[in-house]
Amino acid sequence: MNIVGGNWKMNGDLASSETLAAELRRSLGSHHGAEAVVFPPAAFLVQVQRKLAGSSVGVGVQDIHPYAKGAYTSGISAPMAASAGATWTLVGHSERRTWFGDSDARVAEKLHAALEHGLKPILCIGETLDERQSGRTVDVLRRQLDTALDGLTAAALGDLVLAYEPVWAIGTGVTASPQQAQETHASVRAHVTSGLGDAFARALRIQYGGSVKPHNAAELMACPDIDGALVGGASLKALDFTSIVRAASKQ
Ligand code: PGA
Repeated sequence: MNIVGGNWKMNGDLASSETLAAELRRSLGSHHGAEAVVFPPAAFLVQVQRKLAGSSVGVGVQDIHPYAKGAYTSGISAPMAASAGATWTLVGHSERRTWFGDSDARVAEKLHAALEHGLKPILCIGETLDERQSGRTVDVLRRQLDTALDGLTAAALGDLVLAYEPVWAIGTGVTASPQQAQETHASVRAHVTSGLGDAFARALRIQYGGSVKPHNAAELMACPDIDGALVGGASLKALDFTSIVRAASKQ
């Protein structure tokens, strides 16, 4: 089943987050055509989770700290997020890599922490514009994947979801063309096959992310190696997010 994530990033307040969650409960709460998960700001996780409890819309956190506990001011650990109701976490989002200095090695530690504490991870990978224009896309994605997945077996990775998010398409209104996205997804899946085997790679869901909107979701979702979307801006409007989830359901 395709999976669509809504990454609310650092937007909204408690009231608007609760309203958005309540709207999504009405529009998607009993929708089973595609899996839907929202990632509210951690400050509102508990309240959003309560609004969506018992519905088919899952809730996750946008990031976790690699360690379970300790003197790491402002850190939110995987067990803390899980105890507040998260079942998913993003790992390695490009904004974490760019603004918070998350290296490939740090992303790997976070992926391990998520798996160890039972949070289902969406591992984000993606190249910058400069990397694409200089023909390094495949190498960059392989490096990000290999570092994150090093030492992990298919069994340990369980429900892992990948999100391919070209950095140049995030929040810019510029989407990768369905052909560009499909070609890159196919090469990512082929690389996963070589490391983790055919069965795992075929079952692996790879989301596309970067300016996914209601008007372009269907043609992206129609690509054979695109198994859902990770949505930023459009996930802040219940109508838009709902229409993207519905587009993902038809494929
Ligand atoms: P966007 O963000 O949809 O606003 O481009 C995507 C993302 O960061 O996951």
